[in-house]
Amino acid sequence: MYAAVALVVFMCLTATTHAEHHQPCHAPNMTGVMSVMNLKGEIKAVGAFTYDSMGKKLRFRSNESHPINTSLGLDLLMFFEEGIFYEIDSKNQSCEKKALQCTMHPLDIPDDAKFYSTITSGNPSIEGEGLKVNVWTGSMPDSKGHYTMSVTMGCLPVSTFYFTESTSFLFSNMDIENEIKDPDLLVVPSFCQGQPLEETPEGTVNSFLNEFM
Ligand SMILES: *[C@@H]1O[C@H](CO)[C@@H](O)[C@H](O)[C@H]1NC(C)=O
Ligand SMILES: *[C@@H]1O[C@H](CO)[C@@H](O)[C@H](O)[C@H]1NC(C)=O
Ligand SMILES: *[C@@H]1O[C@H](CO)[C@@H](O)[C@H](O)[C@H]1NC(C)=O
Ligand SMILES: *[C@@H]1O[C@H](CO)[C@@H](O)[C@H](O)[C@H]1NC(C)=O
Repeated sequence: MYAAVALVVFMCLTATTHAEHHQPCHAPNMTGVMSVMNLKGEIKAVGAFTYDSMGKKLRFRSNESHPINTSLGLDLLMFFEEGIFYEIDSKNQSCEKKALQCTMHPLDIPDDAKFYSTITSGNPSIEGEGLKVNVWTGSMPDSKGHYTMSVTMGCLPVSTFYFTESTSFLFSNMDIENEIKDPDLLVVPSFCQGQPLEETPEGTVNSFLNEFM
């Protein structure tokens, strides 16, 4: 009897620690800076992002006045739950509304990601000199590639690598604040409202990552 109880308790404990260790966390609400580089060394974009973790909404606007030369000017408003996004052109007040075929993005760990390891960059024994991250990996939905994502202990995304057959990308995040500083950035601009959904050409996969290819 006691042995059985002890065994059940033991199993529950291991299950809990197992789950704690291997259950992907979800990033909180955030505001920050994201840079996107392909592994040919080309910086594709640098800009500010705003992320609503509950609503699964993301705004990314590349900052063209950033001193680094970048090849893309992008303003994206993504609604991962609804599976749609807007490509916004604030200058001429126009936008395109498209369907998302893949909702994977570099700020949130996919639920089926596999825990890889915990690593510490820098010097963990000097305060402020070490950054401890959990590393997660997984396959791309079309399984023609994989990703590696590292997040802080508080689930703030540090960097995400995507390796695909044709190209590889590194998304790095900086200066994160754990709040949405400007909620209006997650609202569809008035000039985009009522915009018809564009047809996705056959063979096209729209995703956050694909916007940088
Ligand atoms: C995240 O932001 C959304 C939208 O502003 C808000 O509804 C939600 O309560 C926030 N979540 C937290 C945990 O602050
Ligand atoms: C764009 O980059 C410049 C130069 O680094 C910076 O001063 C400015 O605040 C940035 N703007 C936004 C919206 O992030
Ligand atoms: C940035 O781009 C401009 C115009 O395309 C080019 O003349 C300049 O050499 C580039 N600077 C760097 C550091 O690559
Ligand atoms: C807005 O500008 C972009 C390029 O800057 C152009 O491709 C697009 O056709 C323009 N849209 C309208 C409605 O003028």
